[in-house]
Amino acid sequence: MLNRGGLVAIPTETVYGLAADARNELAVRQIFALKGRPSNHPLIVHVADVATARQWSSHFSEKAEALAKAFWPGPLTLIVKRSALATDAVTGGQDTVGLRVPNHPLTLELLREFGSGVAAPSANRYGKISPTTAAHVVSEFGKDLELVLDGGPSSVGVESTIVDLSTDQPRLLRPGGISREAIERVLGESVPLISEATDIRVPGQVQSHYAPRAGLLLIDADKITLEAQQYFDQGARVAVIAPAQTHLPRGVKRFDISSDVDVMARELYAVLRRADASGVDLILASLPGEAGAGLAVRDRLMRAAAPRK
Ligand code: TXA
Ligand code: MG
Repeated sequence: MLNRGGLVAIPTETVYGLAADARNELAVRQIFALKGRPSNHPLIVHVADVATARQWSSHFSEKAEALAKAFWPGPLTLIVKRSALATDAVTGGQDTVGLRVPNHPLTLELLREFGSGVAAPSANRYGKISPTTAAHVVSEFGKDLELVLDGGPSSVGVESTIVDLSTDQPRLLRPGGISREAIERVLGESVPLISEATDIRVPGQVQSHYAPRAGLLLIDADKITLEAQQYFDQGARVAVIAPAQTHLPRGVKRFDISSDVDVMARELYAVLRRADASGVDLILASLPGEAGAGLAVRDRLMRAAAPRK
């Protein structure tokens, strides 16, 4: 299907991707059409190994080599200067390209067989919650998507960390499955985070993404019981996403999540989907700390809670 320009949903360790032959502009355009995504938003090119990644870049720097060696296959995307293989359809007209070797046996086998790059955004409708199971993908696209490769639930559960290496100063464009601390250790320098979500002073500046249908409110953990009670008393149908030991008022729907940030990252999107599907008006949740995978979980929750356009 990839060879004839079709779309295939593929499992990765982060989230499921909606894949097409990255060299085929018509196929790449289908991705944007199906997702409803603006065509100037660039796509990540997924490849089987670092040798193939080098073909997609005109300058795969020493820093790129070091990060690739440390973390590929794995949840890390490198932004580097593009080669002629990367067309405007994939890069959104920029002179850079995002490259990643995903760590999933089925998809690695597919990429090896395919031999080149597949462009793949997360396999969800634009702005919605990312899918971490094949069933999530089917619930997003139904009959509009012919083929979903079922590789089981994603083990990391949040998207890849994106590091921009296209300028002298490496920058973190999106926190994700590889922690900022781990990247800084390999590069031996600090990597500033360029992210609206974590630099915010005014909530309205966060761009809405990963959004459930219900409203999502972020509440301090020690106030969540009280606030859930207050919204419930006002007549709202309320769900709370919290660790199992959290006490909740009667009538409020409970969705347990681990307090270990790695497990929280793995469970986050599935729990958000279940809470949303329970038919509530409001979902209440708390932010974890910034260490390790916590930074990525915070980023996704803040975007999911941001005002909708
Ligand atoms: O874990 C992941 O990265 C998943 C799986 C499927 O690999 N993919 C994913 O793709 O999250 P997507 O399209 O949902 O998010 C990709 C992000 C977008 O925010 C896009 O703007 C950014 O990567 N991106 C891609 N190419 C870029 C480039 N050349 N420069 C800057 N940002 C880029
Ligand atoms: Mg996405």
